[in-house]
Amino acid sequence: MKAIQIVDLSGPDSALREADVPEPEASHMLTPGSGVLVDVAAAGVSFPEVLQTRGEYQVKPPLPFVPGSEVAGTVRSAPDGSALEPGQRVAAFPMLGGFAEVAVAPEFLTFPLPDELDDRQGAALILNYHTAWFALVLRGRLKAGETVLVQGAAGGVGTASIQVAKGIGAKVIAVVSTDEKERVARDAGADEAVRSDGPWRDEAKELSGGGVDLVLDPVGGDRFTDSLRSLAEGGRLVVVGFTAGSIPEVRVNRLLLNNIEVVGAGWGAFALGKPDLCAEIGAALGDLIAGGFIRPHIGARFPLEEAVDAVKLLEARTATGKVVLEL
Ligand SMILES: NC(=O)c1ccc[n+]([C@@H]2O[C@H](COP(=O)([O-])OP(=O)(O)OC[C@H]3O[C@@H](n4cnc5c(N)ncnc54)[C@H](OP(=O)(O)O)[C@@H]3O)[C@@H](O)[C@H]2O)c1
Repeated sequence: MKAIQIVDLSGPDSALREADVPEPEASHMLTPGSGVLVDVAAAGVSFPEVLQTRGEYQVKPPLPFVPGSEVAGTVRSAPDGSALEPGQRVAAFPMLGGFAEVAVAPEFLTFPLPDELDDRQGAALILNYHTAWFALVLRGRLKAGETVLVQGAAGGVGTASIQVAKGIGAKVIAVVSTDEKERVARDAGADEAVRSDGPWRDEAKELSGGGVDLVLDPVGGDRFTDSLRSLAEGGRLVVVGFTAGSIPEVRVNRLLLNNIEVVGAGWGAFALGKPDLCAEIGAALGDLIAGGFIRPHIGARFPLEEAVDAVKLLEARTATGKVVLEL
């Protein structure tokens, strides 16, 4: 079958190559001997693939390997006794191997894809939306009526977090760097948008009536301290990622003086060994899809063969919402 491989660790320009590789067996590394084979219609491209082309991601498979953590498509085969049926439309999380015509995913990370979402949106669903739910609700304890500040708000995790937060009944303030990204964040449902190169901390305090209840931070870097300063008493900052490139440090006296928390949210490390939790999050997100809150924003589409351009778009900081490969 046709696939894209990472063949070395020289970065997006030269590490990604088209290849003809054997189709996967119906067995996934998380569920040895069992797996759902999916005929892939669309594959999601995410920041980890940028990092994987340089060997900078925590998961480091032996070279060469087929990247691609999430796909949408139709079930080719499902394990005996599965509720999934051949031909059924699904969103699935193979973890690796998604940039290919056929992928294998664990049954517990394969979800029926509702008619409201097309295949491209299905390929944008699992990583970002499961992370958003996990970070906002399970780690951040977000409640209806609270105010959330979302950093990197026009990105994949950012737009997903806006939609999940709105679905929960929170008010959302988006932090973005350009006009185009402000439009994307507002289209995703943000109530307010502030600019990362402006006085966003003061604006966020004013817009929230004194401080936000939660900061969702996939960016890290220099703005971290101002994110902490924008929290209200009892506020939580949920650490999700470091697209700015540097890992911030916390002076913990700030936490004491202001009665605030910094909380880590690593969805994969926590959830991938817990099928019941994945089902619980999948069901909660299903309700938000049915309620019209979740509609993944697809910022760019490329044919599989142009995976290099897709990955480079994320690296260049010009991507909005989700970037997908179409097969
Ligand atoms: N913890 C978890 O479980 C989990 C799960 C999924 C993803 N992640 C991580 O979350 C992060 C965000 O992923 P994503 O898919 O949302 O990425 P994305 O779509 O590329 O969005 C990231 C945003 O970060 C901002 N940014 C600031 N400085 C940047 C820089 N130097 N380069 C690139 N972007 C920069 C950009 O917004 P502005 O231009 O508006 O500033 C951009 O829109 C990644 O680090 C990813 O690995 C973590």
